[in-house]
Amino acid sequence: MIRRSTQMLIMLFAAYSFSQSSVLGGSNINAIAESNSIGLKQNSPSVVVERGPYLQSGTPTSVVVRWRTDTATESVVHYGTQIGALTKKETNNSLTTEHEVALSGLKPNTKYYFNIGNKAEVLSESTSGDMYVITAPTAGTKQFVRAWILGDAGTANDNQRDVRDAYYDYVDKAPINPDKTDMMLFLGDNAYSTGTDIEYQNAFFDIYDEMFKKSVAWSCIGNHDGKTADSARQSGPYYDIFTFPTDGQAGGTASGTEAYYSFDYANIHFIILDSHHSGREVGGAMYNWTQTDIQNTTQDWIVTLFHHPVYTKGSHDSDTEDRLIEMRKNFMPMMEANGVDVILNGHSHSYERSYFLNGHYGFANTFNADEITKGGHTVGATGNGDGKADKDGAYKKTDVATEGAVYITTGSAGKISGGDLNHQAMSVSLNKLGSCVMEVGDDGMGGQNLTVKFIRENDKIDDYFTINKAGIAAPKAYADKSIQKSGALLYVSDSDLLKIKVNDNERLKKVKIYNNIGKSVKKSRKETIDVSKMPKGTYVVEITTNKRKYTEPVMIE
Ligand SMILES: [Fe+2]
Repeated sequence: MIRRSTQMLIMLFAAYSFSQSSVLGGSNINAIAESNSIGLKQNSPSVVVERGPYLQSGTPTSVVVRWRTDTATESVVHYGTQIGALTKKETNNSLTTEHEVALSGLKPNTKYYFNIGNKAEVLSESTSGDMYVITAPTAGTKQFVRAWILGDAGTANDNQRDVRDAYYDYVDKAPINPDKTDMMLFLGDNAYSTGTDIEYQNAFFDIYDEMFKKSVAWSCIGNHDGKTADSARQSGPYYDIFTFPTDGQAGGTASGTEAYYSFDYANIHFIILDSHHSGREVGGAMYNWTQTDIQNTTQDWIVTLFHHPVYTKGSHDSDTEDRLIEMRKNFMPMMEANGVDVILNGHSHSYERSYFLNGHYGFANTFNADEITKGGHTVGATGNGDGKADKDGAYKKTDVATEGAVYITTGSAGKISGGDLNHQAMSVSLNKLGSCVMEVGDDGMGGQNLTVKFIRENDKIDDYFTINKAGIAAPKAYADKSIQKSGALLYVSDSDLLKIKVNDNERLKKVKIYNNIGKSVKKSRKETIDVSKMPKGTYVVEITTNKRKYTEPVMIE
């Protein structure tokens, strides 16, 4: 029998702590309205922009604009929601060649045009409207999202440019939301061969400058980037070039380091890991942060990026190389248990894409294509198929299920390097140049489809698959006569069932039950929880929805 605890369970509440995303702090916007910043032309500026502008650390209310000039000047960004009226201004008066201006106080999911310059002149602007930032939607928002994914791109040659141009063609002509790239996801080895500043100029900034002006770029570190960067000290070109959130500003748990971090975009949670420098052991700093972060997200989708692939038989071998084995054996059991949906890796210069699987932590030859319920590694009736909605069928997952993920090794955005390409966990293995696009959108039935396509350098789409996630919709209302005891918790006092009912505009993500010393004793993603076998006593029930957490003390008698 359950009843509401009459005690003031302050001790219970104090015994465990909630990890919450910190809100963006330190807002120092000086958004001074300017009546006429339009028509500022680039009249032979005396200062030359050598790099950028490029966009970093986008959140629903802020973005960092960066650029480099040949001589030190102040930094000025004019911005506004209409191209002809950039009425707001952010200024940094210190003289620098490495400009970094944070715009804050922005509205979510809103397009802001901008230009860059100094106090005397505008140095770079787009009269055609190709320089803008669209702020991220509020976390949890369900809307169409497109991410461009590039692994091992940094060759600075025609292969890299061909792969780039194929994506530009794709997105220009996309039937849904053309010319919209919400983010770029780089999987490391962004500039060969040692990630120096000049290599980044040639293989990164000079290649993607068009997209950098209108799409936020994110990255994980690759081994080649790591040759000139130091993750422990946060130094070197890689860390100088990128500005990543370390305090949870973009959602997720603060990591305190740019080597690994997370962010939210719409209803997707992205976890970026450093598989090169940082310790990969269970219980290490990166592992512990990842576990806290993934267990506290309430987002509908979880996508992770790190450089070293857990499954590959390309130019690297996940059976023999330490970093690959350690990420697979140490990180994946924990991340799979917490519902990761998509794993993006590079390093091997090929495209290898897995079945819908879980629980495969051994060598390639131990992969078993049977369903996980029958002792194998694939998930669901379509898990060992090709994942194509028009062929074997999309992979299926529900919003409360944790099982099932697709692993993608996509490291051929700049070159191909062959290999056996016969890893048993892979549905597709290709020694082809290309990049990937991930698109998330409504399935028309209350759920969402996450589709990834591999776009070759010749514009052909050589692979695609879909994960369909049901249940991303308003929760069902209970029709029974249970008594509502709090904002989210119902129970029938003479039964052994806890029932969770959340508000119509919220969706249940997780339920955790803590005992009187604050230890988590039960976890569930279900709306009805059997507590008949739990010892008598007082507990705190913590209910996480896509919007908030509720807590309620209960007594089990
Ligand atoms: Fe690599």
